[in-house]
Amino acid sequence: MIALTEWKDQVESALSAYIERLDAPERLRDAMRYSLEAGGKRVRPALIYAVLDAYGVERAKGDEVAAALEMIHTYSLIHDDLPAMDDDDVRRGRPTNHIKFDEATAILAGDALLTNAFSCLLASNLVAETKVALAVKLAEAAGASGMVGGQLDDMLGERGGVESVEELESIHRRKTGALLVFALEAGGLIAGVSASDAESLKNFGRHLGIAFQIQDDILDVTGDASKIGKPVGSDEQNDKATYPKLLGMDGARQALKEQVDGANASIDNLTVEGGTLRALLDFVVQRDH
Ligand code: IPE
Ligand code: IPE
Ligand code: MG
Ligand code: MG
Ligand code: MG
Repeated sequence: MIALTEWKDQVESALSAYIERLDAPERLRDAMRYSLEAGGKRVRPALIYAVLDAYGVERAKGDEVAAALEMIHTYSLIHDDLPAMDDDDVRRGRPTNHIKFDEATAILAGDALLTNAFSCLLASNLVAETKVALAVKLAEAAGASGMVGGQLDDMLGERGGVESVEELESIHRRKTGALLVFALEAGGLIAGVSASDAESLKNFGRHLGIAFQIQDDILDVTGDASKIGKPVGSDEQNDKATYPKLLGMDGARQALKEQVDGANASIDNLTVEGGTLRALLDFVVQRDH
């Protein structure tokens, strides 16, 4: 299917090259590399490359921003698994970073991935104006108004308190959606798309982001731990607010379908053929890992 393997290889080469060049204590580099190389699906970089492909722009132009985004996503997973947060022992099919190393090292590996993501992005050959716009958008998506804020509200939502779908959607939109929306915006910025296409890409990202976390919540109930590479039942154990918990499994599947319809409608509005984005959407919602 699509170019998923090619996109994956492309960002993995960019990540390895960046990490190898770092002047850092060996243990820190090992901990960063351990989680980066554990091999996730690389959906966020794939979205950047899919947009570049759709607009006929050279993929290499997206390498640094794709690597930076995957570094931030990986840091968010290392911290998400810590005992103070979701307290999970397995990630990407391997012991989590704090189990393999120790809590302090895992915290610092996350800190380094977050910080160095920006040096990676800003060292690219893109024009300065594009780099500044990307850095500002990435910081906003990852920070207090985006992923980190969503994670905080996700923690507060444990043991009740999230009663409406609107509240839950607001958590999902920030903790997971923001970085996915950024991927679409970044692809659009690098490709220099029109304002109207930029808006459609963003709308696609918004629907995809919610859909992605609904599917993640569903897999936390129905998934196979050996396939998803992380424990099943973590949300229930932590008494998390999730779509299946709030709406039941059928309700969660219906909500997922609504987001998929919205995402497809956004692709219809693009001035280019959006087949690669549609295929990625299918992959995200049909995945079993
Ligand atoms: C998991 O993200 C965390 C969420 C935001 C739901 P992914 O499902 O993209 O994890 P990897 O990168 O493939 O491991
Ligand atoms: C986490 O959501 C989203 C992040 C920002 C890391 P989850 O806690 O559901 O992610 P998993 O299921 O552990 O990957
Ligand atoms: Mg979590
Ligand atoms: Mg978690
Ligand atoms: Mg989850």
